Amino acid sequence: MMPVSNIRQSVRVDLGNRSYPIHIGTGLLPDLRRYLGECFSNRKVHVVTDQPVHDLYRPELDILETDISITILPPGEAQKSFSTLQTVLDDMFSANLSRPDYVIAFGGGVIGDLTGFAASIYKRGCQFIQIPTTLLAQVDSSVGGKTAINVPQGKNLVGTFYQPGLVLVDTDVLSTLPERQVRAGYAEVLKYGLLGDRAFFDWLESNGTHVLQLDPNALIHAISVSCRTKARIVAEDERESGRRALLNLGHTFAHALEARAGYNGDLLHGEAVSAGMDMAFDYSSRLGLSEAGAARAVARHLQNHNMPTIRSVSHLLSDPDRLLATMMQDKKNEADSLTLVLARDIGDAFVKKGCNREGVLDYLKHLKHQYA
Ligand code: NAD
Ligand code: GLY
Repeated sequence: MMPVSNIRQSVRVDLGNRSYPIHIGTGLLPDLRRYLGECFSNRKVHVVTDQPVHDLYRPELDILETDISITILPPGEAQKSFSTLQTVLDDMFSANLSRPDYVIAFGGGVIGDLTGFAASIYKRGCQFIQIPTTLLAQVDSSVGGKTAINVPQGKNLVGTFYQPGLVLVDTDVLSTLPERQVRAGYAEVLKYGLLGDRAFFDWLESNGTHVLQLDPNALIHAISVSCRTKARIVAEDERESGRRALLNLGHTFAHALEARAGYNGDLLHGEAVSAGMDMAFDYSSRLGLSEAGAARAVARHLQNHNMPTIRSVSHLLSDPDRLLATMMQDKKNEADSLTLVLARDIGDAFVKKGCNREGVLDYLKHLKHQYA
């Protein structure tokens, strides 16, 4: 195998004149200036990060040898709010950024989603760079240009599509990530295998443990495959009028579970996605869309890797009507009809519009009784 220090991969998100590279590897942050040099010279830089990431990695930014202004936020989902958005915009105005200047999101998906939104609306849009520091952000949220904050009506319901100019994925930063967060990110890695890449699922069956243990070779392969799949889907359907919804495998169930749990850290987004994918395969099998063996293989993979399953979230299943009501708020829905991502097999997911609400409610009631 190639020595780890030499493994650097690049994936391109092909969107015409808004195309951009995702650089993935170890030891990228010390080369930050060179990577940014591709697109910045004598520009101001405003960094948005959270306190834990700042405490761990502030010195890495000094490499830029430029005047940096910085917004440091408390960690957590609660920061995806109008009031924090205002704070970030205020800091950008104080730094007197102009449109060609750069805003860098340096953190997990919370920082990425919020900063991307701020960058997209500040003076109608300024340059934006993603340096994701969680596994979830490295394989999913930093790529594809979805930005958002949460509102009382639901999660991610206010936002924009705004692509970054560059994504820099340095896997070294994952060494400080709490194990629970690594596992949450793994759910989104697994998603790419389950939705459209059986061979990748088979690879994860053998190598998932190495990914979770942060073996650099396994990690870089898993992140590259994930980003390549996401880049391909985003290039085909940037604004989610069709195929991009596949990336939401398990997410409609997951968002309802997250809402039920209360966004207070009890259930992380990736944990909800893990259980949600278990539900999507289980429900597909109950509808006769897939063999029961597929759902069993998904559940077994999750259990073997100590990932949340339906059983792990049984305490959140006590009110099926409320779960369905949240699912009905999902952005994929049209008019009053429910859209779900279901599966014919592992590696063969599809978008099903017009799902029978009563049928979904019966399924949720069945789960409540099965796991009570
Ligand atoms: P997060 O941003 O809350 O980060 C998790 C925690 O890890 C935070 O406490 C953070 O301080 C800490 N952390 C980050 N990097 C660290 C590091 N290297 N070492 C130590 N600690 C570190 O959570 P997340 O899971 O990265 O992102 C979840 C968010 O992403 C959700 O809001 C979700 O809606 C969003 N999301 C967006 C998309 C998209 O396409 N835009 C896709 C998936 C998820
Ligand atoms: N995470 C879903 C998407 O980017 O479309």
